[in-house]
Amino acid sequence: MLRSMQSLPPMRGERSRSHRLWAVLAASFLVATALPTAHAQAADPGPRGGPAAAGNFFSTLNADEQTLFNQAMGRFVETDSVTGTLEAGKGLGPTFNGNSCAQCHAQPAVGGSSPGLISPQTPVPNPQVALAKLDGAANSVPSFITANGPVREARFILTDSTNFSSPPDGGVHALYTIKGRTDAPGCTLAQPAFAKELSRGNVIFRIPTPTFGLGLVEDTSDSTLRSNLNATASSRASLGIGGSFNTSGNDGSITRFGWKAQNKSLLVFAGEAYNVEQGVTNEAFPNERGTNAACNFNATPEDSSNILNHGSTTGTLSEMSSDLVNFAAFMRLLAPPTPAPPTASTTNGAKLFNQIGCNLCHSTSLTTGTSPFTGMSHFTYNPYSDFALHHMGANLADGISQGAAGPDQFRTAPLWGLGQRLFFLHDGRTTDLVAAIQAHFSSTTNCTTVSTSQSFNVLTNTTKLFSPGTSGTSCGSEGNAVITNYDGLSPSQQQDLLNFLRSL
Ligand code: HEC
Ligand code: HEC
Repeated sequence: MLRSMQSLPPMRGERSRSHRLWAVLAASFLVATALPTAHAQAADPGPRGGPAAAGNFFSTLNADEQTLFNQAMGRFVETDSVTGTLEAGKGLGPTFNGNSCAQCHAQPAVGGSSPGLISPQTPVPNPQVALAKLDGAANSVPSFITANGPVREARFILTDSTNFSSPPDGGVHALYTIKGRTDAPGCTLAQPAFAKELSRGNVIFRIPTPTFGLGLVEDTSDSTLRSNLNATASSRASLGIGGSFNTSGNDGSITRFGWKAQNKSLLVFAGEAYNVEQGVTNEAFPNERGTNAACNFNATPEDSSNILNHGSTTGTLSEMSSDLVNFAAFMRLLAPPTPAPPTASTTNGAKLFNQIGCNLCHSTSLTTGTSPFTGMSHFTYNPYSDFALHHMGANLADGISQGAAGPDQFRTAPLWGLGQRLFFLHDGRTTDLVAAIQAHFSSTTNCTTVSTSQSFNVLTNTTKLFSPGTSGTSCGSEGNAVITNYDGLSPSQQQDLLNFLRSL
């Protein structure tokens, strides 16, 4: 019944939870068998069919802005090779997870989240499988990359998984290297030892977040975000929900992009992604990762503005700009997803969403400030996120700290576009909305931490390592009370809520 694609080792906290869930399922099955008119168990209706409800430019843009959007999209879909000969873009590697932004940001349209075989729009296998050997590359496909699973990147928790007192790692270890590619002669760089690190519980995953509507998010002021959070302080407190912002170490303002709200702006995210995901150095991140001179084939940065041609170039704004600036422009001008027309069921589901407290983290609306783009100023949008961090407990914790976001803290995931998403949660562990909701719950029993002789903690009810600084007393989730409310809904109410989520 649950269509979970969980490929991670089971965690003890989750197991007792699913036992309880199983008891509920079994009980309602008995009732349903005895009384044919009784409600069936609520189920995720699955990804919504029909055309992609996202991927266009923001509807009120003027003609120039539309032209820029379309040209910038060309950069977002461009495929990179090492020297720009095998594929048009230049700068791939030495290490990489993908070879174009649109390879990972694809569902249900360019700019979105992970593609997948179960897409009603564009069913495709995970492109990271074929990528391993593209153009002669000699990579093996790590066990957590599968044809019917999500696009993933991997982070390591510790720098040395045999030594709890080693410093935290936290960084992305790219899946692949350019070794063996016909455009990378002489490069012999090996892949990370994923199997070994996996067996030691030292690897966590992240899937792509969709970029639709992010110009609106970027254009929302810190004071709007703070007053949105403050407005629910007492209702949140009554349900045990905290909430705090991640902030930039550079200027102190609220950072809001990425699973842990770790990045400041679309430009910074694009610069980081270009170098980390594809290995393309750029004006924001000008140096190659790692020290492998034999694997560096281009002058750095590999992507830059055409400033050297300035004055002699009569190109468009897009042509004059770097890939980096084009990526950011494309994302800034992308419209948010369009929800499906409401039905009686989804209208009731929206009401229940607020009634049981989902909206206390997943804020239903925010308003932009003054935008340079036509029609995007003072615009009220529906991200279903407060863009704040919450402690989500041991089941979701990944042991990674980024800025103010600790090992079990995540940005409230925006739910817009959920209807046509295929994989859920930061690691893409499920395709089932019910499982995604239940994962918000973490038992508060067995929360004792084991302090090793070093400065290190391992939560006893998970199989994962935790970085130093993990709170030693709590492994429950701020979502617990709201999930208990969800469990208290009747199956038909739960169904309305799920139908509502799939209408977004
Ligand atoms: C190999 C797959 C992959 C490729 C290629 C890729 N991304 Fe991503 N993207 C991800 C993942 C995974 C995340 C989530 C990262 C995190 O938060 O830890 C992400 C997140 C993002 C976000 C944050 C969105 C939000 O919700 O806050 C932006 C912006 C983004 N990517 C832009 C880009 C751009 C621009 C490119 C091309 C230069 C790109 N990405 C290439 C996998 C990819
Ligand atoms: C305490 C704050 C909080 C509450 C309350 C909460 N959520 Fe969430 N939600 C989050 C966070 C944080 C994540 C991201 C967790 C992760 O990926 O590890 C998330 C993720 C999700 C996802 C997966 C989205 C994605 O991009 O993969 C869904 C679906 C979801 N929540 C639905 C709900 C529903 C429905 C409710 C009410 C029953 C609810 N949430 C209540 C904070 C909350």
